[in-house]
Amino acid sequence: MAHKPKVMITRKLPDSVLDYLNEHCDCTVWEGQGSIPREELLSVIKDYEGLIVSAGPVNAELIAHAPRLKAVSTVSVGYNHFHTQDMLAGGIIGTHTPYVLDDTVADLVMALMLSSSRRVAELDRLVKQGKWQRGAIKEDQWFGLDVHHTTLGIIGMGRIGEAIAKRAVHGFDMELLYYNRSRKPETEEKFGASYCALEDLLRRSDFVVLMTPLTPETVHYIRKEHFELMKPSAFFINASRGQTVDEQALIEALQSGQIRGAGLDVFDTEPVSPDNPLLKMDNVVTLPHIGSATSRTRYDMAMLAAQNLVGALTGGKAYVVPEL
Ligand code: DGY
Repeated sequence: MAHKPKVMITRKLPDSVLDYLNEHCDCTVWEGQGSIPREELLSVIKDYEGLIVSAGPVNAELIAHAPRLKAVSTVSVGYNHFHTQDMLAGGIIGTHTPYVLDDTVADLVMALMLSSSRRVAELDRLVKQGKWQRGAIKEDQWFGLDVHHTTLGIIGMGRIGEAIAKRAVHGFDMELLYYNRSRKPETEEKFGASYCALEDLLRRSDFVVLMTPLTPETVHYIRKEHFELMKPSAFFINASRGQTVDEQALIEALQSGQIRGAGLDVFDTEPVSPDNPLLKMDNVVTLPHIGSATSRTRYDMAMLAAQNLVGALTGGKAYVVPEL
């Protein structure tokens, strides 16, 4: 019988994904709550050639405990938990799950734009608290700002950025500005998008959407001086990673009225602390990092992660992360 590589799966996966993995690998699944604790992982990893994770870090410490490890597959498109230099040095292949979540994350970004500017979450609370009484408050106190026919600035024009652009331009008649490491002539053509300097984008946009991946270069990419450039009527939306923003600067920009509101799926520390001032602000819509969390997309991500691992271990097809 062909050798089946030993694989450790650090979180629950759908049964049919496990069936697929079991056909190709000798699998052990962490059966506890959530993801396997770090100490536990470090103590068992020595026997395994493959690993499926959704968080990290996958670093020199882990690799030092894993003499047989050949491939790590993350059930996410973001791979900031991969310490790619350590993985390169250890000869470990790292894979991720691009493409399958683009539309789902783009939908959520639209939801954050709509719910922050039209005050959906805030007014939902108000109605449920029985505060919808005619004449009790001036009606215009509930007014929001439009999304349609406004200007959207996307920072980080990758596949998800393009999926947002499609919705915004074709569905909401928005004008599109973007800032990216490199210009994208096709995107400009498709969406009538204008490439501009970051500062210019911040000055002109009604909605600033941050989609840049978290890398050592993008930690606190958006800071105090950037919020200072934004319009007082503008909304800041983040569905990438919390650490791409200086969260304290964001809090101060919201508290001082420098910007109008925010829609946040991600935070500097996750789960976010209940004491975080962002949670006390009516003009901020907060979500628990659920950008890709629909049943279908999470299934597709799990299956792709499984296929990636099998591919990486057998010399087949796999979405290896760009740096590796
Ligand atoms: C990703 O895939 O990186 C999303 O943030 C969901 O975790």
